[in-house]
Amino acid sequence: MGRLDGRVAIITGAGRGIGASLARSMATEGCAVVVNDLGVDVDGSGNDSGPAAGVVEEIVAAGGVAKANFADVSDFQAAEGIIESTLEEFGKLDVLVNVAGILRDRMVFNMGEEEWDAVIRVHLKGTFNTSKHASVYWRKERRGKYRVINFTSGSGLHGAPGQPNYAAAKLGIVGFTYSLANSLGPYGVTANAIAPGAATRMTATIPDAQRRKFGLTTDDPRRSPDNIAPPVIYLASEASDWLNGRVIGASGYRISLYNTPEVIREVASPTPWDLDDAFKLMEQSFRPVLEGRSVFGARKQKD
Ligand SMILES: NC(=O)c1ccc[n+]([C@@H]2O[C@H](COP(=O)([O-])OP(=O)(O)OC[C@H]3O[C@@H](n4cnc5c(N)ncnc54)[C@H](O)[C@@H]3O)[C@@H](O)[C@H]2O)c1
Repeated sequence: MGRLDGRVAIITGAGRGIGASLARSMATEGCAVVVNDLGVDVDGSGNDSGPAAGVVEEIVAAGGVAKANFADVSDFQAAEGIIESTLEEFGKLDVLVNVAGILRDRMVFNMGEEEWDAVIRVHLKGTFNTSKHASVYWRKERRGKYRVINFTSGSGLHGAPGQPNYAAAKLGIVGFTYSLANSLGPYGVTANAIAPGAATRMTATIPDAQRRKFGLTTDDPRRSPDNIAPPVIYLASEASDWLNGRVIGASGYRISLYNTPEVIREVASPTPWDLDDAFKLMEQSFRPVLEGRSVFGARKQKD
């Protein structure tokens, strides 16, 4: 018996990397999967039906149930088509896994408008597009244990300096996930985000020296995208009702629970702030908590 027997999932960006691994693993657990992938290069250019079709062939050859879909998640109408064709093919939708993504890395001062827009469009708008159309169906149906599983990144959670567009999109996805978690509960939907770490063509764009420093080599089994599947399968299952609106880290053989931003110190004034008091109290109260702890403070300016 599989952990996902009888469930139907759409996995976007499932032609390669983490998404492809999730499609195979979820199918092995009895899930019928829609393997969506536009088949683009890492920067979002081109398109190719080969990757999604190849993953479907593999799953079917192994005895699983899968259907390929080649739509662009960043296109609102095309995203609606993914939900519609899934309902036509399988009669229902239980799980939506938003994995599709691209990169256009550049320091903020060198970044062009098009590079910003392209990354926000695929990650943030793409995640909205599929979730919006799935939520319309779930709101009408209200008869299942529905799941949205979004993909965020440490680049957003920690602010990667060379990825301002990607960091913004990925942290935007966290805010969007919190909003879904708070709005879709009455319809039986939970929404969580995964912050993965795995060796794929996406991490292959990181310069060699940095990759070695962070242990991002492809030959280390801990870096295999297959390690992302266990927490995703758990979230996709009917067992995870209690888990909603959270970010779960998945990297190597570790699964982590992130905290949700919360106020850790506060100063207040009985009247509109006197500027001298604001200067004094912010330094006195906030600085000791942050010194030596801030991930941002750890990065020193080069010049
Ligand atoms: N690999 C990591 O360590 C890592 C770390 C943090 C976050 N992530 C996130 O995990 C997800 C998967 O990354 P990956 O490393 O497997 O990358 P990948 O490049 O191997 O796979 C991404 C897939 O998305 C597809 N895609 C891109 N744009 C699309 C679109 N508009 N419509 C449909 N499909 C589209 C691509 O064709 C590709 O097959 C991404 O959201 C990425 O941001 C990955």
